[in-house]
Amino acid sequence: MKVSCRLYVEVTEAEDLLALDFDALPQPLFVMGGGSNLLFTGDFPGTVLHLGNVSCHSERSEESVRITLGSGVVFDDFCAWAAAEGLWGPENLSLIPGEVGASAVQNIGAYGVEAKDIIDTVHAFDRQERRFVDIPGADCGYGYRTSNFKTIWKGRYIVTAVTFRLCVIPRPVLDYGGVRKALIDRGEGVSLPISGHPRPDKREGPAGVTGGRGRSEAEAIGEGIPFPLTPQLIRETIIGVREQKLPDPEEIGSAGSFFCNPVIDREHFGRIVAIAKAENGPEYNVPHYEVGERIKVPAAWMIDQCGFKGMRLGGAQVYPKQPLVIVNATGSATPEEIIALERRVIGTIKEKYGIELHPEVEHV
Ligand code: EPU
Repeated sequence: MKVSCRLYVEVTEAEDLLALDFDALPQPLFVMGGGSNLLFTGDFPGTVLHLGNVSCHSERSEESVRITLGSGVVFDDFCAWAAAEGLWGPENLSLIPGEVGASAVQNIGAYGVEAKDIIDTVHAFDRQERRFVDIPGADCGYGYRTSNFKTIWKGRYIVTAVTFRLCVIPRPVLDYGGVRKALIDRGEGVSLPISGHPRPDKREGPAGVTGGRGRSEAEAIGEGIPFPLTPQLIRETIIGVREQKLPDPEEIGSAGSFFCNPVIDREHFGRIVAIAKAENGPEYNVPHYEVGERIKVPAAWMIDQCGFKGMRLGGAQVYPKQPLVIVNATGSATPEEIIALERRVIGTIKEKYGIELHPEVEHV
């Protein structure tokens, strides 16, 4: 189903924000990136503003590259460029839909890497002071899919560009979501000597100035992988993994992960383990990740355990291959159908596990 907004404003030069009379625009104002993580619940009565500036400027030193990209640059174009240049940093974020500006607001993440890990500075227009500001990434209050831009600064700043810090020194992140296994599987039938990965020698390769790991450590991480590790190889592998389980936005509408993965205390996790073992047998292991003292439980697992995979409500469907995603299966699902399915999932999980799932998708 199509929805419309009262006014759509496209700004292609950040400086034009200075000339924009915000008070004269139909309210409310909503700043949109690529729109890939949004659910419009109906016609929007105000103004949708999109920053379409695609400027690009980079500075290269011996060990790192700082690249400043306009908010409208497609994030995956940046990932593709970095991989082709042999630069480390965003390769695990390959194929995430959306644009650069939103990546800094949402702190997008996948396969053990988050945007915050490579964000140096966020450039923004301060609507309150009517001036441009440079905010260090460390001051943006980054957390799991959140930042100050979504919370205490909401409505104040419009992100115009982001400076990312990329590493020349290898810094592969492989131990999350089956990336290592997928890399090893790619090598099946390949009879390459593993000479690209000598034993780690801590004396070689100092840690990179930008937080990268020394070369020898990177090689230790790559142990057992039958190819020399390159950002391009990791990018292609991640694309393969994503394509297997996530819907292609060109073919079937979705907003990516519909829910955030909840983080709970150990006692609560113990209760979930007990429920899972009672249902699946005493040997059953509940997938989880340690987050400090707390435990992150995959929402996909809970939704799967509740039998929601493939469930349809009108045109809305829990995606069969990755139940964390709700898709517009018919292309004509209404916002009401998607919200009804969302509520059913939330209600069932709350009842069974005592956990209230929160949507990752922003409802507008
Ligand atoms: N699982 C099941 N059944 C299924 C699918 C998954 O039990 O049908 C369990 C498995 O144990 C699996 C676990 O759920 O190991 C977690 O699944 P996975 O790692 O595939 O994804 P996720 O943790 O649910 C997060 C991000 C994704 C990101 C992947 C990969 C969130 C909300 N989502 O999903 O991000 O691509 O990790 O790192 O954190 C997005 O934000 O749009 C997005 C796709």
